[in-house]
Amino acid sequence: MGQRSVLPAAIALLFFASTATSQVYDVTKYGASGGGSSDISQALVSAWKEACASTNASKVKITVPAGTYVLREVVLGGPCKAAIEVQVDGTLKAPADPAQMKTDGWVTFQNVDQFTLSGHGTFDGQGKTAWTKNICSKTKECANLPINIRFNFVTNAIVQDITSLDSKQFHVNVLGCKNFTLQHVTITAPGNSPNTDGIHIGRSTGVNIIDTGIKTGDDCISIGDGSEQIHINGVTCGPGHGISVGSLGRYPGEQPVSGIFVKNSTITGTMNGVRIKTWPASPAGTAMDMHFEDITLDNVGNPILIDQKYCPWNQCTAQVPSLIKISNVSFRRIRGTSSTQVAVKLDCSPRYPCDKVEISDIDIAYHGAEGPATSLCTNVKPVISGKQNPAICANATGSSQAQ
Ligand SMILES: *[C@@H]1O[C@H](CO)[C@@H](O)[C@H](O)[C@H]1NC(C)=O
Ligand SMILES: *[C@@H]1O[C@H](CO)[C@@H](O)[C@H](O)[C@H]1NC(C)=O
Ligand SMILES: *[C@@H]1O[C@H](CO)[C@@H](O)[C@H](O)[C@H]1NC(C)=O
Ligand SMILES: *[C@@H]1O[C@H](CO)[C@@H](O)[C@H](O)[C@H]1NC(C)=O
Ligand SMILES: *[C@@H]1O[C@H](CO)[C@@H](O)[C@H](O)[C@H]1NC(C)=O
Repeated sequence: MGQRSVLPAAIALLFFASTATSQVYDVTKYGASGGGSSDISQALVSAWKEACASTNASKVKITVPAGTYVLREVVLGGPCKAAIEVQVDGTLKAPADPAQMKTDGWVTFQNVDQFTLSGHGTFDGQGKTAWTKNICSKTKECANLPINIRFNFVTNAIVQDITSLDSKQFHVNVLGCKNFTLQHVTITAPGNSPNTDGIHIGRSTGVNIIDTGIKTGDDCISIGDGSEQIHINGVTCGPGHGISVGSLGRYPGEQPVSGIFVKNSTITGTMNGVRIKTWPASPAGTAMDMHFEDITLDNVGNPILIDQKYCPWNQCTAQVPSLIKISNVSFRRIRGTSSTQVAVKLDCSPRYPCDKVEISDIDIAYHGAEGPATSLCTNVKPVISGKQNPAICANATGSSQAQ
C-alpha cells in the first residue's frame, strides 16, 4: 500500500528525465575505456544503435569523454527515432596504416535528421603513412584513402567545436546534406599533405561554414557540383590551396552550382585565394550567383582566379573549351598581398564567356622584382567599380570577348 504514493512520483521523474532533458549514452558504459589504446569501435556502434532506436526521449546524446581511443571505420546510420547528438571530448585515432581501412570513409554519419556533432575532441586520421602512398598528383587513379568524417544525407545538422587532424584524404565531406552548419571547427594538416581538402561540399543545399580555422595541404574549402546556398563566413584558411568552387566539369551528369557566398574571411600563405575552376573539354553545366566579399589576403598566390582551363598534371584536352557557363559572379572588397604577380586572372571559356562579372574595391599588392601586381582577362568583360589595384583587365580593353 505504501508503494502507491511512491509510484506516481517515480513515473513523473522518469518522464522528466527522458523528455525534458536528453537521454545520455556514455560510450565508456559500453565497454570503452579512455586508457590510451582502448578500441572504442564496438562501444560506439552499440551506443549509436541503442540511442538511435530510442523512442523515450525527444533528444538522445552519445558522449565520448576525454581520453584517447582507437577507432576503426564506423558507419553511424539513421534514420533515428529522435534528434541525436554525438559529443566527442576525447581524441579518436584512426589506424595509421591505410591497408587496415577498407573504405573511403573513417567516421561516416548518414541518413540522420536533426543531428549534432559537438565537443572539444579530435578526430586524428593519422595520415602520415598514407600521404607517402598518395599518387594523385601523378595519375588520374587515386587510391580511395579514407576521409576523416563523412556526412551523407544528413539534414538539419550542426557540427561544432571539434577538430579534424591529419586526415589521410579530405578531412570533412558533406554530401547530399540540407541545412547543415559547421561552426568553430578546427582543421589541421601539414601544408604539404596531399589531397587533404578541409571541407568538401557536394550535392548539398543550405550549408553554412562559420568561424572555422583550416590549415591543410589542399583546398581549405572546395565546393563541388550540386551545391546551392552555401554561406562561408569568418573562415581562416592557410596553409592550403584557398577556397574554391570546383573543380567542375570533370565528370558527366554534374549538377548546377548556385548561390555561393564567401565573406569576411582571411586567407594566408596559400597557393590560391578565391577561385572558380572548371575543366576544359567538359560536359555542359552551369555555375551562377557566386559572391566573394570582404576577404583579407596575406601573401596569397593567384588571389582572384577564374580558371576555365583547370588541368592539373595535364590530365585533359586543354585546347577544347569548357562548356560550363559561369554567370553572376562578384568579387568585392578583397585586399592584401599576393605572392604571384598576376593578382587577378579571369580566364573564361571561349565557348561561353563569363557573364555578369562584377569587380569592386580590389587592393592587392605584389612586391616581387618583376614589378607591381597585374591582371589578365580572357573572354570576360567585368563591370568594374571602386579601387582597382591592379587595374582590372588592363590588357583586354574591350577586345577579348570571343563571341
Ligand atoms: C528508455 O529509457 C530507459 C531509462 O533511461 C533506458 O534504460 C532504455 O534503454 C531506454 N530505451 C531505449 C529504447 O533506448
Ligand atoms: C536548420 O537546422 C537547425 C539545427 O537542427 C534547426 O534549428 C533549424 O530550425 C533548421 N532550419 C530550418 C529552416 O529547418
Ligand atoms: C567575421 O568573422 C569573425 C570571425 O572570424 C566573426 O567574429 C565576426 O562576427 C564576423 N563578422 C561578420 C560581420 O559576420
Ligand atoms: C546574382 O546573385 C544574387 C545572389 O544569389 C541574386 O540575388 C541576384 O538576383 C543574381 N543576379 C542576377 C542578375 O541573376
Ligand atoms: C590578356 O592576357 C591573356 C593571358 O595572357 C590573354 O589570353 C588575352 O588574350 C589577353 N587579352 C588581350 C586583349 O590581349
